[in-house]
Amino acid sequence: MNIVVLAGGLSTERDVSFVTGDMVAKALRRKGHKVILADVFMGMGEGSMDLADIFDRSLEASIEVAGIPTTAPDLEAVKKSRKDQSGCFFGPNILDLCRMADIVFIALHGANGEDGRIQAAFDLFGIKYTGTDYRSSAIAMDKELTKELFLASRIPTPRGISMQKSARKAFADTGLTLPVVVKPCCGGSSVGVSIVRSPEEYERALDTAFCYEDQVILEDYIEGREFSVGVLEGKALPVIEIAPVEGFYDYKNKYKAGSAVETCPADLPPEISGEMQRYAEEAVRALGLCTYSRMDFLLSRDNRIFCLEANTLPGMTPTSLLPQEAQAVGMSFEDLCQRIVEISLDKWK
Ligand SMILES: Nc1ncnc2c1ncn2[C@@H]1O[C@H](COP(=O)(O)OP(=O)(O)O)[C@@H](O)[C@H]1O
Ligand SMILES: [Mg+2]
Repeated sequence: MNIVVLAGGLSTERDVSFVTGDMVAKALRRKGHKVILADVFMGMGEGSMDLADIFDRSLEASIEVAGIPTTAPDLEAVKKSRKDQSGCFFGPNILDLCRMADIVFIALHGANGEDGRIQAAFDLFGIKYTGTDYRSSAIAMDKELTKELFLASRIPTPRGISMQKSARKAFADTGLTLPVVVKPCCGGSSVGVSIVRSPEEYERALDTAFCYEDQVILEDYIEGREFSVGVLEGKALPVIEIAPVEGFYDYKNKYKAGSAVETCPADLPPEISGEMQRYAEEAVRALGLCTYSRMDFLLSRDNRIFCLEANTLPGMTPTSLLPQEAQAVGMSFEDLCQRIVEISLDKWK
C-alpha cells in the first residue's frame, strides 16, 4: 500500500509526534508498504509540486527525525519558521499527497490531530485515515465532556469541576478540598498540569493552565499508583503500571528515557486489573472510540480505581505504553501498526 504517516502539526505535542511518526513509518516499511513521513504543518516542498511518482521516492520525500527535547516546543517559533506564512493548517502539498495515499496513518498528538478536526477535514476530502472518527476524537479530547460521559456510564473518575478564564474563582468558592489537580481542559502530555497543595499554589497553577487554554479542569488529587490500559478493536490489552522515579507523570517523565519505571503486565491482583480493563472497554463504548485508544487510570491507596482520561492517538513508539501492552500478548510493534491500518480500512469497506 501507499501510506502517508502524518506527524508534527501545531500542538504542544509536536515533537513527540515526530518520534511516533518515524517509528510507525519504519515499522510499516518493514511490512512492505511505501511510506512517506510528512510534517502536516510544514508540508512538503515549496509551491506546487509534481507528485506523480512520489511513492516510488518515498524515502527521499520523507522528513528526517531527531530525538524529543525535554521541554515542550515553542509553537510561535514553529509558525514563524514556515516559509509560506499561510494561515492554512495544512502545509504545501500535504492534502494532495494524502489524497494519493491508500490510507493516512495519523501520528499526530494533541490539538488539531487528536481533537477531531483533521478527521473531519479528511472525511470531507474523501481521505481514509487510521483511528477514531472526528466526533469521538473531539469528545475524548475534552476532559470535561469525558468526565460527564464517564459518570453517566458509571466509570469512576475523580470528582471535579471546570472553570473558565473569564470566571476565575478563589479556591474557597470551588467547593473542592486540597490537594487538587489543575489541568487545561483539552491539553495532553501533562502540559500545564499542576498538583496544588496550598492556596498560593492554586493561583500559580491557574495562571499556568490558563496560558494554554481558556478552560481548565480542577479535580481531587488521587494519591496512589498510576496505570494505563490500551484497547485494540474493543478489547483491553494487559494493564501497564507507570511509576515515575521522581514527582508525577509530567512532560519530562513521559518522554525522558529512564525517568519512569514501566511494568507490563502490572503487578496487581487479577480482580483489580480485570476491573480496570473492563472500565477501559466501557470507556471506549461510552465515548464511541474505535480502532485503538488508551485510557489512563489511578489506583488510590485504598484500592479505588479512577479513570482519568482517554487518549485517541496514544504514543506509538516501540517503547510507548500501548505498544508495550501489545508486546505482552505477543504482538510485535510492526504487527500492531499493520493491524491498526487494516482495521481502520475496514470502516470504508
Ligand atoms: N486527579 C489526579 N490525581 C493525581 N494525579 C493526577 C490527577 N490528574 C492528573 N494527574 C497526573 O497528571 C498526569 C496527566 O493528567 P491526565 O489527566 O492524564 O492528562 P494528559 O495526559 O492529557 O495531560 C497524569 O498522568 C497523572 O500523573
Ligand atoms: Mg494522560
